Amino acid sequence: MKVLVTGGAGYVGSVCTHVLVEQGHEVTVIDDFSTGNRDALAPGATLIEGDVYDLIEDTLAAGKFDAVLHFAARSLVGESVEKPDEYWHHNFVTTLELLDAMRANGVQNLVFSSTAATYGEPAQVPITEDMPTAPTNPYGATKLAIDHAITSYANAYGIGATSLRYFNVAGAYGSVGENREVETHLIPLVLQVAMGHRDKIYIFGDDWPTADGTAVRDYIHIRDLADAHVLAMESNQPGNHRIFNLGSGDGFSVREVIDMCREVTGHPIPAEVAPRRAGDPATLIASSEKAKTELGWQPQRTDLRTIVEDAWAFTSQLGEAAHSAQQG
Ligand code: UFG
Repeated sequence: MKVLVTGGAGYVGSVCTHVLVEQGHEVTVIDDFSTGNRDALAPGATLIEGDVYDLIEDTLAAGKFDAVLHFAARSLVGESVEKPDEYWHHNFVTTLELLDAMRANGVQNLVFSSTAATYGEPAQVPITEDMPTAPTNPYGATKLAIDHAITSYANAYGIGATSLRYFNVAGAYGSVGENREVETHLIPLVLQVAMGHRDKIYIFGDDWPTADGTAVRDYIHIRDLADAHVLAMESNQPGNHRIFNLGSGDGFSVREVIDMCREVTGHPIPAEVAPRRAGDPATLIASSEKAKTELGWQPQRTDLRTIVEDAWAFTSQLGEAAHSAQQG
């Protein structure tokens, strides 16, 4: 298929682009490199550099695309509380522009990068797609608003779409992994301690209502996540908007993640308890049964060790490359 990937230089978008190219699809990426990396671009994909809002109409008018995978977005919960304008413009307004451009140019197949943050603090886990959505931050609110917009565009204008609500995406796929200028996610931060780039990891709260008092999350391997996107794209039906949660179905506490990183890296990884981070729920665990049943999704890398090993292989290779560059 001829596929347009917005945000194809970001963490999730770049891994999906690699997988699409490997599977023989013809891929064009739009990315402005505001958070993405040039190194992460898949060889073989065509790049259009710039803002999706500015480029989408002309790109879809010129390209005869079969499908769009839309990743380009702001995605930091804390930042969204401080700068909601950026989140509503870059996430919501840009996606409306994309939906209108798809409609105007007869492109009817969309896969949208949604999030577990649409649910907010869940009343129970595992979280199924029919549970109430009550986002606790602007990031989740923008993604939920987009999901609603997609549903109405699907009903009225025949777009076939899938929203994938990711839980905690982690791991790496070969040479592509988490490599952000501003890092806030647990696994890459812990691995930065093992690399010697940070002294210690702060545990945000040890008084949560969980077995060891630290927050529990459902970590999903980036490569399994990419498979779900391809399956969704290949099975979208005009006029139908599907929503699927994607996780491994298992919860790990912050302490369990740090312990696994100690085992995998052989580094002691000093940790210190700090206050809770605003907006964090205690426990988020996905039910991905719907994706398994309806999409035929079969995650292969659900154990935490594989996720951390792959993330570590990527982080250490990145650290060595930076070290060699410094040596000159
Ligand atoms: N954590 C620490 N120390 C750190 C970083 C994180 O203890 O230095 C904790 C967090 O408080 C949280 C857990 O580790 O309990 C995981 O935190 P991440 O920042 O890695 O991920 P989040 O669960 O906050 O975020 C994920 C996705 C978001 C999504 C959110 C939904 O990355 O896109 O889940 O709640 F919005």
